[in-house]
Parts: sequence; structure tokens; C-alpha cells
Amino acid sequence: MDGLIKKELYLLKIGGSLIAGQRNPNEIKYSEIRRILKEIDNARRERGFNIIISHGSGAVGHAPSKHYDVPNGFRSEKARIGSVITERACNRLNGIVTEIANDIGMPVFSFSPHSFSITNNGKISSVYAAPLKAALRYNWVPVTYGDVMMDLKQGFSDISTEEVLRALANSFSPEKIIVCTDVDGLFEGNPKLDAGARLIRKVDRKNIKMALGCAGPSLKVDITGGMKTKISLLYNAVKGTGTRGYILNGGRRGDVYKFLVGQEVDYTEVVGR
Ligand SMILES: Nc1ncnc2c1ncn2[C@@H]1O[C@H](COP(=O)(O)OP(=O)(O)OP(=O)(O)O)[C@@H](O)[C@H]1O
Ligand SMILES: [Mg+2]
Repeated sequence: MDGLIKKELYLLKIGGSLIAGQRNPNEIKYSEIRRILKEIDNARRERGFNIIISHGSGAVGHAPSKHYDVPNGFRSEKARIGSVITERACNRLNGIVTEIANDIGMPVFSFSPHSFSITNNGKISSVYAAPLKAALRYNWVPVTYGDVMMDLKQGFSDISTEEVLRALANSFSPEKIIVCTDVDGLFEGNPKLDAGARLIRKVDRKNIKMALGCAGPSLKVDITGGMKTKISLLYNAVKGTGTRGYILNGGRRGDVYKFLVGQEVDYTEVVGR
């Protein structure tokens, strides 16, 4: 990473399931957005780490994307219109997150992935990291999100927030990638369907195959995959590096703050060595 940025750097995802509806594209959880941002900001002020936040969009983005078949790119003018509608929906939610952050005194600055990177068949293939590095150097908290992208092969594509994190990890070599979602981590089976499923506390090269076998899709309107996407992209991001990945429950009040200041909470750790 840029030599001028000397603090520890964390990349943190706020899951769309925490801040938006699962099925209703008009549902936005304003008070949860505020609570989670406050937990992050309190920890950041106490510990002094640098952080890039990235958020998902829940049904706000997934519903129009699915309706217009955006992930498969340019197949029809209808899909092109859908790309615009989906991009606006994700951006609108990002505007709300950014404004709430400003309202609580957190110095965030919004960066849409389609303006600092490009995809090739749905995968980010190049990143222009200079603006984010400049923002970090001057103590901003860059905020980014799952987005509709210009795509070199298929015209446009729709990427998960996890894909944004994977690409940013490549450019920034963060100490930690933290994925906050609506469950405590990776379980042996989907805990929303099987209350007896046990938490898998660590994923590494020895059990990654088993972990991917346990991880399934989410139960909502979803176009970027649920737990499976988290495990595969987190593992890809940390593989062969010293970065550690974590999946934890941002829906449980206090867990995000506690994790960031080093207190004990439940999570799954993903390591690549
Ligand atoms: N083995 C598993 N362990 C834990 N969760 C699982 C498992 N298999 C499937 N899941 C599902 O993964 C979901 C979390 O992923 P999901 O993509 O819905 O959340 P998110 O990332 O917070 O939201 P978004 O994708 O909108 O940003 C859980 O709610 C659960 O239904
Ligand atoms: Mg998801």
C-alpha cells in the first residue's frame, strides 16, 4: 500500500440484509444504518485504524437487477434500461448511507465502483485506487457499494460488494476484511433453516472445500449469491497474503463495535495460509 498511509487498514462490508429489505425494494432500515455506522465510528475514533466501508443493497438493488436480468449484461434494450434503474437504486441507497454518516459526524466520502474500476465478464479487472488512497491519507472514510459496472465483455454487469472488497484488497493489502451480515458467520448448514447448525470458527486451506460445500445461497431476492459468495471471494482475497477475513453478525447490537475494538464476539475467520 501507499507508504504515506501508515495506520492499520480494514475493509468492512455492511450487508445489504442489514440496511435494506429482503424482498421489498422500497424498504430502507434507517435506524439500523445509523446504529451500525455509529458502532464503526466509535471504534474508529478509539482505535485510530483506517477503514473503507462497502455496503450491499438488499432488495433495493437485487430486485431491479433480477427483474431486468442485469448480471448477464447487454442482451436487449430492456436490460440496458434495467442497468440504469439498478445503478440509480444502488446509488440512492448509498446517498442515504453517506448522509446518515455525515449526520453522525463521520467523515465519509462516497466512491461508486463503476467510476474507479471496470469489469471483464463480471469480475473487476482493473482499479484506479489513487482517489481512495488520497482520501485515506487525509482521514476520510471512503464508502463504496455493490454496483452496476461497465464491462469489457458483456457491456455492463452487476457486482457483489464482496467482489468490490476482493478487488480493493488486491490494491490495498488491508490487515482485515470484515463482512458484517445477518448471521454469526459460516455454519455447517444455513442457520435460518436449521437452528441446530454449528458455527465453523475458522476456514483455511485445509477445510476450504468443506466450507464451500456448507455455504449456500440466501433466502431472499438475490442475484449475487449469499454465504457462498462471501466464502469464495473472502478466501480468494486472503489466499497467499497476511490479510485475515472475518464474517460476523452486524444485526446483533454491539457486535461490530466489540469486534473492531478487540472484544470477544462470535465470527468465522478466513485465512489464506
Ligand atoms: N452455511 C451457511 N451459514 C450461514 N449462512 C448461510 C449459509 N448458507 C446460506 N446462508 C445464507 O446466507 C445469508 C447471508 O448472505 P446474504 O447475501 O443474504 O447477506 P448480505 O451480504 O448481508 O446481503 P447483500 O447480499 O444484500 O449485501 C444468510 O442470511 C443465510 O440465509
Ligand atoms: Mg449477498
